[in-house]
Amino acid sequence: MPELVVSNLEKSFGGVSVLQDVNFTVKDGEFFTLLGPSGCGKSTTLSCIAGLDNPDSGRIEVGDRVFFDHTSSVALPPEQRNLGLVFQSYALWPHMTIADNLAMPLKLRKIPKSEQRRLIDDALTKVDIAHLRDRYPHQLSGGQQQRVALARGIVYAPEVLLLDEPLSNLDARMRDSARTWLKMLQQEVGVTTVYVTHDQVEAMSLSDRIAVFMNGRLQQVGTPTEIYRTPATPEVAGFIGRCNLVSGKVEEETHDGYHLRVRLKDTDQELRVKRTPNISPGQHVTIGLRSENIELSELGAHDDGTVNVLHATVTQRSYTGARYEYLLAADGLSLFAEAASCHDKPTLNAIIRPDDCLVYPAH
Ligand SMILES: Nc1ncnc2c1ncn2[C@@H]1O[C@H](COP(=O)(O)OP(=O)(O)O)[C@@H](O)[C@H]1O
Ligand SMILES: [Mg+2]
Repeated sequence: MPELVVSNLEKSFGGVSVLQDVNFTVKDGEFFTLLGPSGCGKSTTLSCIAGLDNPDSGRIEVGDRVFFDHTSSVALPPEQRNLGLVFQSYALWPHMTIADNLAMPLKLRKIPKSEQRRLIDDALTKVDIAHLRDRYPHQLSGGQQQRVALARGIVYAPEVLLLDEPLSNLDARMRDSARTWLKMLQQEVGVTTVYVTHDQVEAMSLSDRIAVFMNGRLQQVGTPTEIYRTPATPEVAGFIGRCNLVSGKVEEETHDGYHLRVRLKDTDQELRVKRTPNISPGQHVTIGLRSENIELSELGAHDDGTVNVLHATVTQRSYTGARYEYLLAADGLSLFAEAASCHDKPTLNAIIRPDDCLVYPAH
């Protein structure tokens, strides 16, 4: 399967810019996800790749085929792009059986009837619903309809599969199981895939790499581990996982030279954070603290200078089944923490390791 290369995409609607300088390459067989909040431009990007919409400028190539190039005025029609498309609304024909729904794209491609039957059965078998081939869409559950939409997306062996929030109509439990089989299916078919979602758990669990979108711009492209452990901006840190973002000003380097002392804004708190390149005393910063990196202790923790120990009041505690979530107040600082164990004391020590603090220049 070929690579998909998207370069310098720009797009606006009615004078309002929606995509700005979007660049990414999806490798052969890769599961690549566009992740971001609603309205950030994910579907617009996918539509430009599919040819349902044209960008204002930029270039889109798959292998040695140019789908779109503004400079040389190339815009290949959607039907010549050989892409599989699956949307949130399954868009199945209600008056046709499942097999006939799958036959539609094959007929359009003038594939002989005998071959059609083999391809349809093969695609339905891949998504485990071969026994439903003669039913109509209304006779299937939402999850089964979703599988039909997926089967229709892969039935003509597309070079690239484009999926736009395909699991959002399923309930939480079905979404979990759909995620598992979708990943297995993509690996089995080995098709280069661009997946769109606003759901960070979905993106983290499915993707080889994730592109995080905010306001029409790519903030970061990386593996799930890179995106989670080293988010490029506070916005990415705040969007992926639960991350407390606090403002402060760097006062000085610590004597050992490994840490920076940061006075937190509007509080009486200080935090020691790891020394970070390009951050120096006097600078205003944003610090990211992941909720699971705040260790809670009922014991009188000894502040030996290697960690931060904050004396916190528990203002809220909730139980989610797997974990306890805590809202803490510490001298004007409000922090969200989580832990596997239940602490029922009204005050706790919150222990924060300097190396767990993500530090960004404030802007
Ligand atoms: N055909 C259109 N006409 C005008 N505005 C549009 C159109 N399509 C999308 N937009 C706007 O572009 C922005 C990005 O939309 P979209 O790509 O659908 O976001 P996402 O898929 O990330 O939720 C939104 O502000 C949306 O309202
Ligand atoms: Mg969308």
